[in-house]
Amino acid sequence: MEANIVVLPGDGIGPEVVEGAVAVLTAVSHQFHHTFTTHTHLMGGCAIDTVGNSLPDETLAACLQADAVLLGAVGGYKWDNPDAADRPERGLLALRKGLGLFANLRPLKLYPELMAASPLKAEKLAGVDMLVIRELTGGIYFGERARWTDDAGEEWGKDTMIYSAGEVRRVAEIAFRAAQGRRKRVASIDKANVLDSSRLWRKTVNEVAANYPDVTLEHVLVDAATMHLLSRPSSFDVLVAGNMFGDIITDEASMLSGSMGNLPSASLGAAQNGHGCPRGLYEPIHGSAPDIAGMGIANPIGTIMSAAMLLRHSLGLEDEALAVETAVARTIAAGHRTVDLARDGEPSLSTRAMAEMVVKYMEPIIGDR
Ligand code: IPM
Ligand code: MN
Repeated sequence: MEANIVVLPGDGIGPEVVEGAVAVLTAVSHQFHHTFTTHTHLMGGCAIDTVGNSLPDETLAACLQADAVLLGAVGGYKWDNPDAADRPERGLLALRKGLGLFANLRPLKLYPELMAASPLKAEKLAGVDMLVIRELTGGIYFGERARWTDDAGEEWGKDTMIYSAGEVRRVAEIAFRAAQGRRKRVASIDKANVLDSSRLWRKTVNEVAANYPDVTLEHVLVDAATMHLLSRPSSFDVLVAGNMFGDIITDEASMLSGSMGNLPSASLGAAQNGHGCPRGLYEPIHGSAPDIAGMGIANPIGTIMSAAMLLRHSLGLEDEALAVETAVARTIAAGHRTVDLARDGEPSLSTRAMAEMVVKYMEPIIGDR
């Protein structure tokens, strides 16, 4: 297969973790005889510094032409000025919107050898395997917003949480279809006891559920959901949530795995690429971690697992995706750790060494086939 992958390293630890994932993709291309062409483009703070725009036109155009996009992270102290006209995060939101990526899939699987790195007790973690589907191009992230000062000199700021039934329906459909291939449970997260947008969310999810009688639906208020994620995490299968609630609960859920550095994501929409698959954006759920940027110690697993999702969802390469996921699991099982995963006194590997270890564990898997 020939595939055209756009790479957006971004800021902070983004370039380091992306380098690790590209090394894994290169190994996949050699071992499975594919040709992956990668083109690197600017996005985020580095793009503001270089061309004065967090999402340059040519970057968006390249992404629209690509089969898939692999992204590191954006943001950093340098661009934190709240009054700046452009911000790295604006580029990321404009990219998601520009590519029409309304569904963000964030799977959470635990590695048995990392249970001790989790803040929860092992008995609570048994059986945890969930997929959070976060709505990504609507809600409060994209509603009307404003800042102003009134006549009395008081400053105001406003954001609007807004959803159409259609926006809810299309992401709910993805959740129910995903659940059919899993444990057939959907938990829909909202705040319907307070918010009108959530009451529409709940009504629409109920309507979609009627077409999936084999799937069990529960509605969970977002505040209760944060509690249940700690008290009964293994009861969840697929969760579906609006943009901001999904953002918040996935950071919480990621810690069940011991480190948010482990979690990948895939953002998908309706547009297809030349392989008849959705053109997707693949990124770890962690941020740019400016405190450790440039030190070569970031955990590349979330980005490598995002590359596996890219192989599966945008290229239809299931065997290749499984090879990467199995190699990651074997790397961890063999005791290799980046510093975020290492317990007191355990040695840790650099970002690059960890990625090389995954490549090394992939060779025998392919030999096994
Ligand atoms: C994420 C991040 C982003 C978000 C930021 C960087 C804009 O937190 O992908 O979860 O809020 O969506
Ligand atoms: Mn987030």
